[in-house]
Amino acid sequence: MKSLVVYSSQTGNTRKLAETVFEMLPGEKALYPVDEAPDPSGYGFIAVGFWLMGGKPDPKSSEYLGKIGKKPLFLFATHGAGAGSDHAIHGMELAKSLASESDIRGTYSCQGEVSPKILEKASKKPEPPVWLADAPDAVGHPDDADVDVLKHQLKDFVLKIAVSSDSSNSNARVAQRFGISPYLIIVDPETMEIEAVPNPGAAGKQAAGIQAVVIAISKKVDTVLTGYCSPTAMKYLADNGIDAITGVKGTVAEAVAQYRKQAHAIPARSMDKPDFSGAALLPALKKSGMQLINLLPIFVGVVLLIGLFNAFISKDLLSSIFSENALLDTLFGTGLGGILAGNPLNSYVIGGELLEQGVSLYAVTAFIAAWVTIGLVQLPAEMAALGKKFALIRNALSMVLCMAISILTVVTYSAFSVWN
Ligand SMILES: Cc1cc2nc3c(=O)[nH]c(=O)nc-3n(C[C@H](O)[C@H](O)[C@H](O)COP(=O)(O)O)c2cc1C
Repeated sequence: MKSLVVYSSQTGNTRKLAETVFEMLPGEKALYPVDEAPDPSGYGFIAVGFWLMGGKPDPKSSEYLGKIGKKPLFLFATHGAGAGSDHAIHGMELAKSLASESDIRGTYSCQGEVSPKILEKASKKPEPPVWLADAPDAVGHPDDADVDVLKHQLKDFVLKIAVSSDSSNSNARVAQRFGISPYLIIVDPETMEIEAVPNPGAAGKQAAGIQAVVIAISKKVDTVLTGYCSPTAMKYLADNGIDAITGVKGTVAEAVAQYRKQAHAIPARSMDKPDFSGAALLPALKKSGMQLINLLPIFVGVVLLIGLFNAFISKDLLSSIFSENALLDTLFGTGLGGILAGNPLNSYVIGGELLEQGVSLYAVTAFIAAWVTIGLVQLPAEMAALGKKFALIRNALSMVLCMAISILTVVTYSAFSVWN
């Protein structure tokens, strides 16, 4: 996922920190002053830098912090007040409260030299501000030592990579299926420190991919490198700001080295402008090619599924389940789609075959809608990843809505058919 660094700075102190944060972040990244900052929704990881004004984050940063939403966030700031003073801590707490939905991964603040004009103005106030007494010490800050501390701090939470692996060391080969890979090797790409986490989903039982996703989230991973990742796991990863790079081969160490080479080769640029240069197109074409190859087993599966359906599901069996009663057919269609799981393509194939065999459109529409929205077999994994209450409410509501969608679709479709 792309990272975004946004900063506000009048005299350059906070900009200096912003440039350090930007330099430290791996992968695709962008750096913007707050006036030109893009919507944060298109980015996976956000860092916002502000300066203290009247004891609060400056107004432009405050406004931007309110837009961050549920994203991993790093906050950094400069101020005239002493580092670690109550005033500075309070300012940072205010910034956190402005981005209350975000997942705060770390904070850093240090003194920033205050312009003499401001100092003079502040000293003439009837009640000089509390930070004024510390301001003489701020001269020359942020200095090299401040920048070093910031760099060190960033290393503690810096984005990590997870590589699916056949065994627990970095010389192992990249496992070709993320969900059932025996281990996830968590790598800090800067220090190359590794941690091997066994994947309980390696046995390949139901919802294996979700267990690997849960590991990646809990280890605060930013990018997953693997051979293949199912669309469901890919979606959960993306929803948690984790980028999945598929088609990766070789050893874990080679995969990480290749990733680092590409990440550092990406120039700093605005992520909003498309890049049609050869250097950008070639990897994109390669990635698309790999994704196409990864899809081939699905196409083969679809052909096999049609054969199996024709061989094993008889017309008599279907007519005993589906009675042409709109409500019952919708209910059974929803139930069947909710139990079965897999690629949505399969639901269209089975749906088409059901229609061929004379099953009503109510049942087939409900079946397709339920296949993609209800996951009864994955329910335990969904509960583990997103919470019991959420998973139960989501599935129950999806069930009711699938039936409603089915009835509405068929009624609307029939109305159009009559007019035509
Ligand atoms: C109008 C104004 C108000 C300020 N208010 C505070 C304050 O409340 N607390 C503080 O510690 N520093 C305060 N400062 C000092 C700045 O926060 C500090 O110099 C900061 O490093 C400036 O960052 P910049 O160079 O990125 O603009 C204020 C500065 C200005 C110009």
